[in-house]
Amino acid sequence: MISQDINQAKQLLEEMELIAIPTETVYGLAGNAWEEEAIKKIFELKKRPLKNPLIVHISSLDKLDQVAYDIPQAAYQLAKRFWPGPLTLVLKKLPHISNLITAGKDTVAVRVPNHPLTLSLLNQLDFPLVAPSANPFGSISPTSSPHVEKYFKNDLPLILEGGECEKGIESTIVGFDEESRAIIYRLGSLSMEEIESCIGKVNLLNHNDQNPEAPGMLSKHYSPKTPLIVSEDMENSLLSFHEKAIGLLLFKKANKNNPNLIQEILSPTGNLSEAAKNLYAAMHRLDQKGLSLIIAEKLPNEGIGIVLNDRLARASKFE
Ligand code: TXA
Ligand code: MG
Repeated sequence: MISQDINQAKQLLEEMELIAIPTETVYGLAGNAWEEEAIKKIFELKKRPLKNPLIVHISSLDKLDQVAYDIPQAAYQLAKRFWPGPLTLVLKKLPHISNLITAGKDTVAVRVPNHPLTLSLLNQLDFPLVAPSANPFGSISPTSSPHVEKYFKNDLPLILEGGECEKGIESTIVGFDEESRAIIYRLGSLSMEEIESCIGKVNLLNHNDQNPEAPGMLSKHYSPKTPLIVSEDMENSLLSFHEKAIGLLLFKKANKNNPNLIQEILSPTGNLSEAAKNLYAAMHRLDQKGLSLIIAEKLPNEGIGIVLNDRLARASKFE
């Protein structure tokens, strides 16, 4: 059922059920963070490997010391500036945090989501919520309640209706090295520039599938079922693949030479934040058209455009 009933949400969570919750980034598949039974259900429903740790969602910075300890000064600076918001901090975990949540690591990922309904729910609960994005492992993240319904219609007693996600791209994940220097584990809605404006220069973790600092950051991810390629030269790509049933994912302008193709325009005004908000929804729509190929236009590689190109690159991996 899709509804805004927070009381029902609270009751279901207390009974160890899972529900979908809206956040400003993407919808989450939420369960009681203090109960292994609920945490296990999340991995099962998502078909997520147990080695991929989950994010703990808390209602405010005040609750952070219920989850983590030995918190670097830079983490507090970031949290004060950006919470509630699309920032996830990876910190040393307290012993009572389940090893299922952290995939056996000694760190835990934590954030305060910025959505009024979910914040109000978190405020009424006496436990935090673990919540990965509400999609089966590897597929496109959901940015509206119908997306979640498409994936989990018969498996979830409640999808909390919070409208379309304002940001549309997952949170930025920041961890710390032994000297408490910040490192970006996953690019996301919060730009590197915004983070650096708060705490100075930060490094980006070298991403490869084996990196133990960032388990679960597989290169193939966020993928539609339809094969997707990223193109820097649309006309040329269209010539190469002309025999296929093609859909186009474009930044601001329709392709006038091929008016009969199915086309999605991410931001007619050329605004990258708007493109971010629309990206996953456009991918979901194209994926339902029975196409044999989606050609996505590479976006300007600046600000959030860098993050969108990262997501498109992962969506385009064949394995
Ligand atoms: O915007 C978001 O972050 C959304 C909403 C629902 O909050 N959540 C989300 O969760 O994107 P998920 O599970 O799809 O991605 C969380 C990622 C994991 O893949 C993992 O790589 C990283 O967070 N992570 C979690 N705990 C970690 C840890 N202890 N150390 C390093 N990375 C961790
Ligand atoms: Mg995810």
